[in-house]
Amino acid sequence: MTDSFLSRRQFLQGTAVTSAALWTPNSATARTANNLTNETEIGVSKWDLDTPVLCVDLDNFEQNVKTMQDTVTSNGIDCRPHAKTHKCPTIARLQIANGALGICTAKVSESEIMFEHGVEQILQTTANVTPTKIKRAMNLRRQCSSFVQATYTEQNARMLSEAAAALGIVADVVVDIDPGGHRTGITAGQPALALAQLVDSLPNLNFQGILCYDGGAQHVSGFEARRTRAIEGMSQAAETYAVMTRAGLNMKIFSGGGTGTYNMDHETPGFTDVQSGSYIFMDTSYRSIGSRDNNEIYTDFAPSLTIVTTVLTSQYEGRATTDAGAKSCTINRPWPSVVGETGMSYTSGSDEFGTIRYENPSRTYQTGETLELVVSHCDPVVNLYDRIYATRNDQVEAIWPIAARGKNQ
Ligand SMILES: Cc1ncc(COP(=O)(O)O)c(C=O)c1O
Repeated sequence: MTDSFLSRRQFLQGTAVTSAALWTPNSATARTANNLTNETEIGVSKWDLDTPVLCVDLDNFEQNVKTMQDTVTSNGIDCRPHAKTHKCPTIARLQIANGALGICTAKVSESEIMFEHGVEQILQTTANVTPTKIKRAMNLRRQCSSFVQATYTEQNARMLSEAAAALGIVADVVVDIDPGGHRTGITAGQPALALAQLVDSLPNLNFQGILCYDGGAQHVSGFEARRTRAIEGMSQAAETYAVMTRAGLNMKIFSGGGTGTYNMDHETPGFTDVQSGSYIFMDTSYRSIGSRDNNEIYTDFAPSLTIVTTVLTSQYEGRATTDAGAKSCTINRPWPSVVGETGMSYTSGSDEFGTIRYENPSRTYQTGETLELVVSHCDPVVNLYDRIYATRNDQVEAIWPIAARGKNQ
């Protein structure tokens, strides 16, 4: 597996480019941009890094990428991983280098950052609805010919076409279909067909197909229950896909699905690519949904993303306090879990402090000791950090700037 990944030199080159773009010194005496990525940390043990620190275990991460890619390939579809999970152009490039069609993004700012850092195959799954965002998206499309964006209302489609016309371009668009959860998307069937035909007819838009993301299916516990829900949740979009095909529309894209349904989505007729995000890292939220062969734990993908934290207080009975609270772990549930230990729980509800409570602990911690946590929900955790330390056998092999961190517009 390692051979097919970018070499360490390539990782480091990527690091240097992105860090320079991340931070601009404002005086001659300021730190140089290179200091943001401290290359003296390459080769050191992750246990010697200052904490709290976000780490990715490369062996697990690479295996996760391979499992996803091998599975979708053997099922006759593609993957187009969601970059909202990692916000890291280095990871996006790795995913593409290992067979992904391209990436998805959630926000126009994320799309811009990915493009600035050399990622060109971008499908933005959230529609841009305001004139400001539409203008940004069209500016991006002018430079990035493979940028595709979503729409789900007639008014929005017309705004997109006008904005594209103002820049003298024809923009690629997919219609987002609501699987029934009413978060985003147009109703399947006739409303979706009418919108697709409108997009197809507008002079400055190029209709490319459909999206349908059923978030409610992803975390259903138990493989068969999840599979039933996934197929049912996508059935109306599949029928709409068939109707659009019969109407002669260009159905190049039928994208959706995620980490929970990646090995079921190919059963939806016409489906082209899985937008899974969390599979590269995993988290405590996904760990409990169960796999085909294991009802309790989702074993398809290994947890790779961890936070190393230091114990600050250990003198009180039954508990210890760490330096990783809500600002390092979020307050998402389920809470983080302590790697390799049992009989203790971890909470990160307090801004600056994490709390370990001992019930029947496999060990206890002293002040100054470090421990490692599997993250709660990976996407918002990543958004709290400037960089990810990529480690192998606990040694830092690369430092990946999270260049789109905080890019939430
Ligand atoms: C539109 C869309 N596609 C894909 C995903 C990826 O999901 P997951 O991280 O469960 O793989 C999400 C996550 O919320 C999403 O909103």
